[in-house]
Amino acid sequence: MIPLSIPKIEGNESKYVLDCLTTGWISSAGSYVTQFEEMVAEYAGAKYGVACMNGTVGLHIAQILLGVTADVHVIAPNITFIATLNAIKYTGAQPILIDVDADNWQMDLDLLEKYLQENTELKTSNNGTFSFDKSTGKRVRAIMPVHVLGNIGDMKRLLAIAEQYHLDIIEDSTEALGSTYDGKHAGTFGKIGVFSFNGNKIISTGGGGVIVTDDEEIAKRAKHLTTQAKVSAMDYIHDEIGYNYRLVNVLAAIGVAQMETFPETLKAKKKMDAFYREHLNGVGDIQFQEIPEGADPNCWLFTFSTSRMRELLDYLNQNGVQSRPFWMPMNQLAMFKDDIYINKNDVSASVYENSISIPSSAGITKEQLETVVRTIKEFYSK
Ligand SMILES: Cc1ncc(COP(=O)(O)O)c(C=O)c1O
Repeated sequence: MIPLSIPKIEGNESKYVLDCLTTGWISSAGSYVTQFEEMVAEYAGAKYGVACMNGTVGLHIAQILLGVTADVHVIAPNITFIATLNAIKYTGAQPILIDVDADNWQMDLDLLEKYLQENTELKTSNNGTFSFDKSTGKRVRAIMPVHVLGNIGDMKRLLAIAEQYHLDIIEDSTEALGSTYDGKHAGTFGKIGVFSFNGNKIISTGGGGVIVTDDEEIAKRAKHLTTQAKVSAMDYIHDEIGYNYRLVNVLAAIGVAQMETFPETLKAKKKMDAFYREHLNGVGDIQFQEIPEGADPNCWLFTFSTSRMRELLDYLNQNGVQSRPFWMPMNQLAMFKDDIYINKNDVSASVYENSISIPSSAGITKEQLETVVRTIKEFYSK
């Protein structure tokens, strides 16, 4: 079976892990953690990085850092991986789901703007000016764009909308390490960005995440909250409810090695993407995900649309090509079906029904790429 997306482990991973094991620095203290944080932040062009156990907890902490609580809304796209929405719901806040763009599958900014124009009002108090949803009376606290599949939407426009409506941005950039818009890295447009390093991501620590920010206070508090909110190095004194969300040194060691080879990994992903775009162009009724002007995606997971998605999915999986359907839209899941969903034609439903992801590992060989393309062509010729 040609796997969907597996990590490429070809650098100093074992050397650094062995170093942790032989020196005994396997837990959450250790120099690889700091090194990994610095490497990720520096690569992305952020001032600070705080490592955590995975992207999901990073997104959870990001909510807490911005003061997201049960009495506010957070805006998120309707097509995303469940963790985006879970992170909002952990705080008790209510998501506002926005349908996605039919071509690039990112949050539809026309719908976002329409929602904010028609359904919210600005109120000013001593604490500042904030947007409130007119139907629920709740403050709309933040927008959480998701760089779906490493692609990246019109960030310039999103920033302008956020500013106009006094909303902060938390970027779910879990899939987008290495993606840029107008030369600026995913994860650095908002107040906080979060990367994931789980097994299927562009690089992996097995499981892991890094929160990035330019705000020193946010970074300090992120570290504090992810390490049980302990205030004294010696005494067990804690000043708020904290979390044991810290990444351990062994995993950070893998991360350091993965970051060292990241430029080659990114090149390999782009090559894979270019191969598919060249050889699948015009095959059957395949439609590629559109790349917005200004975006330079990391090409994390190659995904396309076809009206015969379910048939193709079965065919590929039965013929040695591991393939996956896309995420079920959030509004279709029981936990979110009662949340506000802003849409015109429910584009999410058709993106979901038609989209399929195919093998995209950075280490995929030319022969494997050719096999995938040949198998897809075989399917359409039947
Ligand atoms: C869009 C999105 N958000 C959040 C996550 C959560 O990251 P993690 O698996 O590291 O918890 C992932 C990845 O799994 C993701 O793809």
